[in-house]
Amino acid sequence: MNSLFLMVASLCLCHNSIAVDLHPLVLVPGSGGNQLEARLTSKYKPSTLICKLSALQTKGSWFRLWFTPSVIISPFTQCFAERMMLYYDPELDDYHNAPGVETRVPHFGSTEGLMYLDPHLKHITEYMATLVNSLEEVGYESGKNLFGAPYDFRYGLADEGHPCQVGNQYLQDLKMLIESAFVSNGEKPVIIVSHSLGGLFVLQLLNRSPLSWRHKYIKHFISVSAPWGGAVLQMLTFASGYTLGIPVVNPLLVREEQRSSESNLWLMPSPKVFAAKPLVVTEKKSYMASDISEFLMDIGFGEGVCPYKTRIEPLLDSLEAPGVPVTCIVGTGVETPEMLVYGNEGFDVQPRIVYGDGDGTVNLESLLALESLWSGLKGQQVLKVINVSGVSHMSLVKDEVAVNEILAQVQSINSILLTSFA
Ligand SMILES: *[C@@H]1O[C@H](CO)[C@@H](O)[C@H](O)[C@H]1NC(C)=O
Repeated sequence: MNSLFLMVASLCLCHNSIAVDLHPLVLVPGSGGNQLEARLTSKYKPSTLICKLSALQTKGSWFRLWFTPSVIISPFTQCFAERMMLYYDPELDDYHNAPGVETRVPHFGSTEGLMYLDPHLKHITEYMATLVNSLEEVGYESGKNLFGAPYDFRYGLADEGHPCQVGNQYLQDLKMLIESAFVSNGEKPVIIVSHSLGGLFVLQLLNRSPLSWRHKYIKHFISVSAPWGGAVLQMLTFASGYTLGIPVVNPLLVREEQRSSESNLWLMPSPKVFAAKPLVVTEKKSYMASDISEFLMDIGFGEGVCPYKTRIEPLLDSLEAPGVPVTCIVGTGVETPEMLVYGNEGFDVQPRIVYGDGDGTVNLESLLALESLWSGLKGQQVLKVINVSGVSHMSLVKDEVAVNEILAQVQSINSILLTSFA
């Protein structure tokens, strides 16, 4: 009796023997979900005295651009916005940083850059820390079988054949990280856990890799709150600016920067998912997902039309089934912008918002699109949807109920091990 108890206890406590048996896991964060660093060179043209002084303070060395709390203090919001700006060059057909602003993503491969957005303000900038800690409690070990794949979330992807230096490089890096996690863990295929925008990158990586690669390297793809078909909220971001609910920031201060982001354009509502629903209504017109180009013109962002039409639209059209087992974990039952109603003051004034179902950020039909569009397709084995009711988009990687749900999925994928312990 005693010896049996001791044997079971020692099996459970011996983390090394557990770790050997777990499938390696790669975390892919969402937009804004990891740190981003910048360095200002002599080509940087500060727009205000404050931006000039704060640039001098950095003395040409690397500093954290995202996230630091000064972002929400209005004179600094301006400096932040001009340093975060992307520019689309029609001649090169690609996006680039603001002149004089170099950026880099720290801690690729590690969970370090996505646990907290500001390591000095852990409490208020926690992102995936709870999830990482919970995974460590069941035997995962950062750097050994638990990895993070942060990226420059301002950039997106374009339809294949278009230059897309930053986004394509990320897909390459992610692919190599998956392969090396596989190799260093006894050739065990990898579990990918993505949040939000990260899921779209993962789906693209899967779509662009041969089936034989996917079957060899991917055990399971757990996507948490992925906006498969974009979100109506993104139209608000483009039209009037959106401050993530932080009331002190004037949305118009960040609108230009938000419009410039390639990944934001990627997250516009997709015609396949939103069909013929009116999403933005003004006194003159009503816009559906198929009217995004016209919408971009009318809100005064004509520069966005060409990249949207040539790079994004075909990308949305060409999506295929992931071809690996997928579990989508989605938040539901949270009021989510479904239609924006503008009066005669134009787009600079925040609209009246009509709400519908979703996770507060992403509409329900978009969260469920993987199921509605691809579940019947050939080659799509497992496609499971888990509904975590009343948990919002950002809370899905922090909230206890939601994190336990993610953990339960990870454990059931590793089930051979767990049932032998039960
Ligand atoms: C999610 O779960 C809640 C509570 O069980 C339920 O009321 C709701 O209809 C579900 N939503 C979806 C989209 O399945």
